[in-house]
Amino acid sequence: MPTSIKSVGTYVPAGVLTNADLEKMVETSDTWIRERTGIVERRIAAADEGTTDLAVAAAQDALSAAGLRPEDTDLIVLSTSTPDSTFPSCASRVQERLGAHGPAFDVQAACTGFLYALDIADKFVNAGESRQALVIGTETLTKIVNFKDRGTCVVFGDGAGAVVLGPSESGGIKSCVLGSDGSGGDLIYVAPGAEGPEGRGRPEIRMDGRKVFRFATEILAQATLQALEKADVSLEDVTLIVPHQANARIIEAAGKRLGVGPEIMANNIAHYGNTSTASIPLALKDSVKAGRVHKGDHLVLVGFGAGLTWGACVLEWE
Ligand code: UT7
Repeated sequence: MPTSIKSVGTYVPAGVLTNADLEKMVETSDTWIRERTGIVERRIAAADEGTTDLAVAAAQDALSAAGLRPEDTDLIVLSTSTPDSTFPSCASRVQERLGAHGPAFDVQAACTGFLYALDIADKFVNAGESRQALVIGTETLTKIVNFKDRGTCVVFGDGAGAVVLGPSESGGIKSCVLGSDGSGGDLIYVAPGAEGPEGRGRPEIRMDGRKVFRFATEILAQATLQALEKADVSLEDVTLIVPHQANARIIEAAGKRLGVGPEIMANNIAHYGNTSTASIPLALKDSVKAGRVHKGDHLVLVGFGAGLTWGACVLEWE
């Protein structure tokens, strides 16, 4: 039986970090950040706000949007690169707080993680093993950003998004393609906590922005076309592509490569920055709220990230 997305939920922390704030922290400017990334502001979790807290709030938002009871959730697949602890998983913590049951586990495929989680959960629902699954992407990336590195600190933000999946009579997820090329592992990675004169002593993101940018523009188009071919859906029938929100210029370049206009490419990076695995559900929810998604529409969700990893899913909105 096909699997469909029943609802989307999101949560972003209240704290806002503007480009003007960053101008006081590193050698940068509001103009540079807007022109090179499209980002105006990003959200920042409070010191006592964890990745699990964001996930619970996004999951509750998704469940209430669909009028579903948390305790009927029988599967949680959660994607994050910033778990509150190595174990237990964030998914298990979320399960306990929701009063849900069944398997619950985290997956890690960096910014592509939400699509990996979606594909896994789809297979559970398809096999009849789950009737109400939660797929969650959640990050507190600002806790692993070095706020002295202007190449990364202007880009990342915190947030969470979730979807409820369940069996459907028609429509739903039609295909997913996932990939990984470990030879690009050093292009974006988290370095273990460095001690020393600067005394940061915490892990931090390192990134070769230019090389990742080049990879991103190619793979977004390529993965989109592969997933469409697998689903036997033509690009002309797609009304919305929801790409990972890493940089507005990457989204534009991918759209150009595909030959589609900006009205097809979801883009809400201005307000959230790059929230890694949360960015696709955050952009999907904003598109739904803006009335850009209707029953019977064909959508593509597509992303890339550290690994290097990538993925794309084609679905018909129910
Ligand atoms: O989601 C995970 C994957 N991550 C990504 O997708 C990130 C992809 N990469 C990017 O989004 C972009 O590469 C960045 C936003 C990270 C950087 O933008 P860019 O246009 O690629 O800049 P660049 O690294 O080529 O640097 C251009 C110039 C350099 O100065 P010079 O050498 O030309 O004098 C940089 O030092 O801009 C300088 N620069 C900055 N200037 C002001 C780099 N970062 C900044 C900054 N403010 N924050």
